[in-house]
Amino acid sequence: MAPVTTTSFPAEAVPQAPEDPLFGLMRACKADNSPDKVDLGIGAYRDDNAKPWVLPVVKKLTFCATHATQADEILRNDPDLNHEYLPIAGLASFTSKAAELLVGTSSPALSEKRVSSVQTISGTGAVHLGALFLAKFYKINGQSSTVYLSNPTWANHNQIFSNVGLPIATYPYFSKETKGLDIEGMKRALADAPERSIILLHACAHNPTGVDPTPEQWREIADVMAAKKHFPFFDCAYQGFASGDLDRDASAIRFFIEQGFELLIAQSFAKNFGLYGERAGCFHYVSPPSPDAASVTTRVASQLAILQRSEISNPPIYGAKIASTVLNDKALFAEWQENLRTMSGRIIAMRTALKAKLDELKTPGNWNHITDQIGMFSFTGLTEAQVAKLRSEYHVYMTKNGRISMAGLNTKNVDYFAKAVDKVVRET
Ligand SMILES: Cc1ncc(COP(=O)(O)O)c(C=O)c1O
Repeated sequence: MAPVTTTSFPAEAVPQAPEDPLFGLMRACKADNSPDKVDLGIGAYRDDNAKPWVLPVVKKLTFCATHATQADEILRNDPDLNHEYLPIAGLASFTSKAAELLVGTSSPALSEKRVSSVQTISGTGAVHLGALFLAKFYKINGQSSTVYLSNPTWANHNQIFSNVGLPIATYPYFSKETKGLDIEGMKRALADAPERSIILLHACAHNPTGVDPTPEQWREIADVMAAKKHFPFFDCAYQGFASGDLDRDASAIRFFIEQGFELLIAQSFAKNFGLYGERAGCFHYVSPPSPDAASVTTRVASQLAILQRSEISNPPIYGAKIASTVLNDKALFAEWQENLRTMSGRIIAMRTALKAKLDELKTPGNWNHITDQIGMFSFTGLTEAQVAKLRSEYHVYMTKNGRISMAGLNTKNVDYFAKAVDKVVRET
């Protein structure tokens, strides 16, 4: 047989794709051996020593030896702990509590059986499953509806929705002038969008801006969306991590459900449980109140199961088991809430420290947004040239759009970072 000399995948068909910018940044940062290095790239929590933090409540469940406690016993002695397949929709004790966490334990949506939940490959998998479901089943006059994403948004939203063939558009979100929410621009765009468009909303701690609507602004957004019959898709990657209060961080979602919207929710447990690599997440469909709501929900669940089966067959067990154990145990749940307050509190303290130092240095500009914004990220307003200089001269790693992960700051590097910012702002 003649040797194969040509590929079926020439460069015209399969061009070299650029590296994912965020993971590329992570790689470059890892390779930098400077003792001054400040890693403000990836959105993962770090403690005051810039180290990953296994939540104490999670550690109890997963590390035996020196940390053996009553809770540790729970997981290790669980007679159901094995490596069998989960059901297609995942671990029911996990997904049911995950739904309660979002909609609230006393929500009529639960008692009326209007919620259908599927365990997914973390938040990304949940956004993907929702996108796939919409691409297949949400048609207006036989056509796919456009998905409106905030400008800016988590970069992966663009490729997740376009990979399933849904058209994409954006709505204004961040005002460069105020470094806050462009509520008028957002409402105008939603009002101008064709009826029944899909609107992707960040439930809390907007990535990358750290800017969330106020309760009053959420009401205004809901009013416009109801008038245009738009379809809300909430991405909730930071519940409890933003304010330290699980209920408060879910309030926008609960408000939309109270208003009678039919909606989708993608839920990640990466940040709030520190279970990044375990890929624990959920996707939820909530039907609007109606006499046949329960049967609608059952029908939707049956189709979600088919999509899930063809994509991942069934989800991974380990992270779900950890989260489920905590969510189903009163004492562990209380401890988790304490851990959430530790993480959100440290981030808020870093916002205060950074702003105070920039004020002290009299760095040109107004830095109120550092403390006004919430959650893992701050959109600093630094330009691409300033970001490049921070990297080349000060070993500070952050995304080109000026976003910093607040969790990368700590009591040892916040002054260094503020001084570096001060220098580049004055020089560039
Ligand atoms: C807005 C948003 N959605 C979803 C995710 C999904 O994360 P994961 O797949 O790790 O749960 C992230 C993570 O950074 C995010 O910021």
